[in-house]
Amino acid sequence: MKKSILTIFSMAILALGCDSKQRGDGENDMDDHEQYRPQFHFSPKNGWMNDPNGMVYLNGKYHLFFQHNPDSNVWGPMHWGHAISEDLIHWEEQAIALFPDSLGTIFSGSAVVDKDNTAGFGENALVAIFTHHSHEVEEAKTGLHQNQSLAYSTDEGKTWTKYEGNPVLPNPGIWDFRDPKVMWHENSKQWIMTLATKQTITFYGSPDLKQWTRLSEFGENIGAHGGVWECPDLFSLSVDGEGKWVLIVSINPGGPNGGSATQYFVGQFDGKSFVPDHQDTRWLDYGPDDYAGITWSNTGDRKVFIGWMNNWQYANEVPTEAWRGAATIARELELKKVGEDVFLTSTPVKELEHIVEDAHTENDLMIEGNHDLSTKVKSFEGKYLLELKGADRESFAVKLANELGEEILIGYDKQQNTYYIDRSKSGKIDFESDFGQRHEAPRIAKGEKLQMKLLIDVASVELFADDGLSVMTSVFFPNQVFDQLLVQSSGELNVGDLTVANIQHTL
Ligand code: FRU
Repeated sequence: MKKSILTIFSMAILALGCDSKQRGDGENDMDDHEQYRPQFHFSPKNGWMNDPNGMVYLNGKYHLFFQHNPDSNVWGPMHWGHAISEDLIHWEEQAIALFPDSLGTIFSGSAVVDKDNTAGFGENALVAIFTHHSHEVEEAKTGLHQNQSLAYSTDEGKTWTKYEGNPVLPNPGIWDFRDPKVMWHENSKQWIMTLATKQTITFYGSPDLKQWTRLSEFGENIGAHGGVWECPDLFSLSVDGEGKWVLIVSINPGGPNGGSATQYFVGQFDGKSFVPDHQDTRWLDYGPDDYAGITWSNTGDRKVFIGWMNNWQYANEVPTEAWRGAATIARELELKKVGEDVFLTSTPVKELEHIVEDAHTENDLMIEGNHDLSTKVKSFEGKYLLELKGADRESFAVKLANELGEEILIGYDKQQNTYYIDRSKSGKIDFESDFGQRHEAPRIAKGEKLQMKLLIDVASVELFADDGLSVMTSVFFPNQVFDQLLVQSSGELNVGDLTVANIQHTL
């Protein structure tokens, strides 16, 4: 369970005190500390990272900001770290964009390109809309500690100025009042802010990003309510030519596999209210380690999402030292129909294909027992892609393992009609009592052939099944890299076309 913000803040202050010791250890044993460093996912060079923030595309560059505690590897006084990429895959960390100030630390939020200078900061200014969180006011327990504020940049995100009129949306008395995601709504010609308010979402409208009017509230008696709602996002997508709106809501705890997770709703938005098309609860990613993700602004019809590859249940305890936390792979979001129902799919962005090489393919592959692909992946240093296209709908598993006997299983269970990731024997699991579990995702696709794409990056696996209808993300910490790969089936099984390929990336 996520620790109260106050407790974590105190932990961070303690950690600050012993920071030099941690750094000292790192110098003597650098290899060990970099053992779990993702190679083709973004992670900060040093310190703590949680939610991705303020993602915006401008002049050929994708900006990724993120919740960052630069001075410690546990959550603490939040800054906005910053990284830039031209292809959503190779990230270059930049100077910290936003520092805490007299109004508080800098919690999650979004950024927009203000093309028409509605806010008066300049044409095409980047405007960040974020939550100021005051730890002093939180302690006073008035409930007024979270307020929405602005900062702007007129040099493509290099330097930022906080707006002198902050906060622009003061707290009306709601304890959890945070994570503004702002977009321009063309039909109603206004900015819409989607804000997490306890266990609902409140929509606000504004002509200029500075004055905000409450429009409506969504979320009572629908969706999952096992924890606080955080980091929402609202955007449009079409399916078979029909326009829809998608509302993403992260929730902690209360995810389908414990702890943090992100649910979504498909429906209609008219510039005032969101009305869902369905009553059932759906998850963007059923695995334990994709949280607080939102989409990039200013990417036109393309919707690109990135999440935090972690879970508040153990985020402060995962066994890395120099840094803690990473982002998921950037994912393209689309809508797909299954029967009459419309689902949100996530697939790795196509830019990833540029770094996939040395592909080994076996077509129409029949297996029985263990099909050992270890020699194919030995030299890949734990980072590769595995794809199965057109496998029979029978139970089978993909096993990643090392010579210590540690393993992680990613599979399909025919009887339950579920995909699963089992990390119960994956190496270091006892830093948190619930970490070593088997997690499941329902299969949503109906066809008799399965499709699975796995991205493995040293200490994480992302499963995109059936073109992104069932998705799971899971981190793991083996004592030696998983350099063995097997596909296992008790009976005879056609796994279709199998591809295993290196992911070539230099940090
Ligand atoms: C989600 C979250 C946000 C908050 C931020 C603080 O992980 O709790 O609601 O703004 O993290 O770091």
